[in-house]
Amino acid sequence: MSILEQVNKKFENFLKTTPGDDLFTKAELVYEIINTDIKTGNEGLGMVSLDKLQGEYNIEEKTGEKHSVIMLGSNSYLNLSTNEEVIKSAKEALDKYGYGMGAVSNYAGITPIHKELEKHIAELYGCEDSIVFPSGYGTNIGVISALCNEGDVIINDSANHASIFDGCKLSGADIKIYPHADMQGLERILKRLPKSQTGRLIITDGVFSMDGDIAKLDIITNLAKEYKCRVMVDDAHGLGVVGKTGKGSAEFYNVSNKIDLNIGMLSKSPGGLGGYCASSKAIIQFLKLYARTYFFSTALPSSVAGGLNQAFKMFLKDSAGRKELWDKINFLKNNLTAIGFDIGHSQSAIIPIMIYDEEKLFKIHSELRTKGLYTNIVTYPAVRRKECRLRLCVMKDLSYNQLERAVKILEETGKKYNII
Ligand SMILES: Cc1ncc(COP(=O)(O)O)c(C=O)c1O
Repeated sequence: MSILEQVNKKFENFLKTTPGDDLFTKAELVYEIINTDIKTGNEGLGMVSLDKLQGEYNIEEKTGEKHSVIMLGSNSYLNLSTNEEVIKSAKEALDKYGYGMGAVSNYAGITPIHKELEKHIAELYGCEDSIVFPSGYGTNIGVISALCNEGDVIINDSANHASIFDGCKLSGADIKIYPHADMQGLERILKRLPKSQTGRLIITDGVFSMDGDIAKLDIITNLAKEYKCRVMVDDAHGLGVVGKTGKGSAEFYNVSNKIDLNIGMLSKSPGGLGGYCASSKAIIQFLKLYARTYFFSTALPSSVAGGLNQAFKMFLKDSAGRKELWDKINFLKNNLTAIGFDIGHSQSAIIPIMIYDEEKLFKIHSELRTKGLYTNIVTYPAVRRKECRLRLCVMKDLSYNQLERAVKILEETGKKYNII
């Protein structure tokens, strides 16, 4: 089959080996396609950052071209990945314990610094204990596959993160999916569950990573009580950003004591790496023994844990600059709405700009980049193709001048492509 015929078949058609082909043929085809002039939406992937993350800095494109961009594509919403106090705390841990742990957590892979981090996380959620995983993605995989098994049922929002769906698949449990944010859809599923199926878990992102809206946790926790389900919330993008004191989506709805498994990522607003689950002592003990991405994976470096301890001290006091971040979020949202962009229902630092046309999206994204604006390009497999979009992420340290220039570039480009 010619390359062009293959291109028409799109990303998902390269997942499986075509009968008669060698296992690697699909990879060779994708490689060839990416290196033609055909736009696939992947052109902008794989840039190199030449300076440390900030509102505007230099990057190197895959072509080798170097230029500066205004950064609207980072999840370090509070700029803690480059915060001086966080770095100081990371350096102290580095000097004291070295740069790698050399062992999984259960086999001497953790230090008092890791223990302190577990305590901070548990305190933030008002839980008895917490467990820290060396990867965010691996956190969802590990927690879900440890707790759920054949015969159990997991009920998901359709917009949940890929790591949640992968964890569900691995668990062997029945997987049910309701349309994004559709609470009637959720209840319809719950009503139909057989009485005998008593191992029930509802999983939702807190802040949805591609839409920026917050799960309706008030309704979800009520339904969970009525239908005797446990609730797991992945608040990767809520921590430090939403809620009265920045403690996340459950705080936003005042239902913190109704969440059974508080999942979060240490890579987003905390600015480091890894993930966690805060829950009861029994659950955390169970996960430390049964979550395979914990048991069989080397512990987080102490320097990262050290930096994270400082980040969590700030979260606990709500002193990481959340209000300043929200001023910038509101500034950008108001300007984009005033110009006429469709920004969905964002309630967080994640702002989608809906494009709904993949060909236009590819052109707009690369033009923005050329003009010095970095945004995330979002299409299949992250969302359905017909819901493709740009994703803008706001950071506290973006200046108003940078935001104004970003809006101007977006306006110019949006008009050119009849988006506004
Ligand atoms: C909602 C959500 N959960 C989990 C993850 C995985 O986290 P990490 O990137 O730290 O592995 C992400 C990151 O994209 C996410 O957005």
